[in-house]
Amino acid sequence: MKTEIVYAPKLPQRSQFPANSVLFYDRILDRQPSFKQWRRAFSYAFPLTAGESLKTLDSLQKILKIMVSKGLPQTTELTFIAVGGGSVGDFVGFLASIFLRGRNFVQIPSTWLAAIDSAHGGKNGLNFNAVKNQIGTIYPASQVYLVRTLLESQPIEREDEAFGEVLKMAIINTPKILQNKVKSPLFDSLPELISAKMKIVKMDPDEKRGARRVLNLGHTVGHVLESLFQLPHGEAVKLGILFSARWSFQLGLLKQPDFVQIWKAVHSRGDNDLQTLLGKISFTEVRHLLSKDKKLVSSTEIDFIFISKIGKVLRRKVSLDSLINEMRRQKQEY
Ligand SMILES: NC(=O)c1ccc[n+]([C@@H]2O[C@H](COP(=O)([O-])OP(=O)(O)OC[C@H]3O[C@@H](n4cnc5c(N)ncnc54)[C@H](O)[C@@H]3O)[C@@H](O)[C@H]2O)c1
Ligand SMILES: [Zn+2]
Repeated sequence: MKTEIVYAPKLPQRSQFPANSVLFYDRILDRQPSFKQWRRAFSYAFPLTAGESLKTLDSLQKILKIMVSKGLPQTTELTFIAVGGGSVGDFVGFLASIFLRGRNFVQIPSTWLAAIDSAHGGKNGLNFNAVKNQIGTIYPASQVYLVRTLLESQPIEREDEAFGEVLKMAIINTPKILQNKVKSPLFDSLPELISAKMKIVKMDPDEKRGARRVLNLGHTVGHVLESLFQLPHGEAVKLGILFSARWSFQLGLLKQPDFVQIWKAVHSRGDNDLQTLLGKISFTEVRHLLSKDKKLVSSTEIDFIFISKIGKVLRRKVSLDSLINEMRRQKQEY
C-alpha cells in the first residue's frame, strides 16, 4: 500500500479524518494547550505513556480491554491515528494491523526520530522477553502527516537523539546530508531524509529480499546498548554506527578520511562514549541479547552492515563470536 505524505504547518482539522477515527496520543502532548484543544474534537481519544514499556503485550492487552469497553465502532472505516514518537507509532501500528485483522492506520509523528524514520516503511513492533521489536508486522500507514508546529515543539535534545538515524541515511546512500550539514530547521530536511529511506524500502518493502537490511546499519550493537543502558534509540544507533565504522576500518574496508569524518560526526552530538559503555557490559548478557536478534541468519551467524565509504555499505554474515571479539577489541583499543 502506498503511503501519502502530507506536510502541514499545523495539526489538520478533525474533518480531514474519517468519522470513525480513534486517536492514540503521547500523553506528554497534553502539556501543549493547542494540542489538548485539538484532540478534544475526537470522541475516542486514548492517551499513552511513551517509551519501551508501552511496546509490550501487557500494554496491548490493557488498551484492547479499554477499547472494547468503550464500544468502538467496529466498522470497516475504523481508522487508528497515532500521534507521538516511535514508541507510540510502533505500538499503534501493530494494534491497527491486528485489530479486526487490520484497519486503516494514520501516523502523525511528534518526534524527529519518528518523522525521519519510524513513521515510514511500515514496520512496527513490540518488545518481548527483553528483546526489542521481537513481535511485529509490516503495515504501512495510509497517510503520514508531518506537522511543523508539533515537531518544532520538541526540546532540542530530541534533535540530537534523532541524529543517529540521520547519520545512517547519509552513510547508506545520501552523503550530501553530511556534506551540506543537515538544514536547520530540521523540518526542511525531512523530504530529503525520507526519500533516502524510501529508496531502500521500495527495493524490498517486506524485507524478504535483503536489500532493506542495510537500514540496520548501527542497529546490531545499537540495540544491545539501547537495551542495556536505556539509551534513546537514535543515540544508541549513532554509537552502533561508530562500532561498525571502527570494525570496517580495522578490516581495511573503510579508508581513513571517511572513518575520520564519521568519527567527527558521531562526536559532534551527545556525551555517551562507546568505549566507556563497552567497558561496562557483560559479554554473557550481550551474547544472550544477540542470540535473540532478528538479524541472525543461523544460531551462530548474524547479518552485519559494514561501511565501505560514506554513501556505500556492505552486508556480510559474521559469526557471533567474531562480533563479540570485536566488541572486546574496541573496549580495549585507543
Ligand atoms: N518502526 C520503525 O521502522 C522504527 C524505526 C526507528 C525506531 N523505531 C522505534 O522508535 C522508538 C524510538 O522513537 P522515539 O525516540 O520517537 O521514542 P518515544 O516515542 O519513546 O519518544 C521519546 C520521548 O519524547 C517524548 N515526546 C514525544 N513527542 C514529543 C514532543 N512533541 N515534545 C516533547 N516530547 C515529546 C516522549 O514522551 C518520550 O519521552 C523505539 O522504540 C524504536 O524501536 C521504530
Ligand atoms: Zn532505528
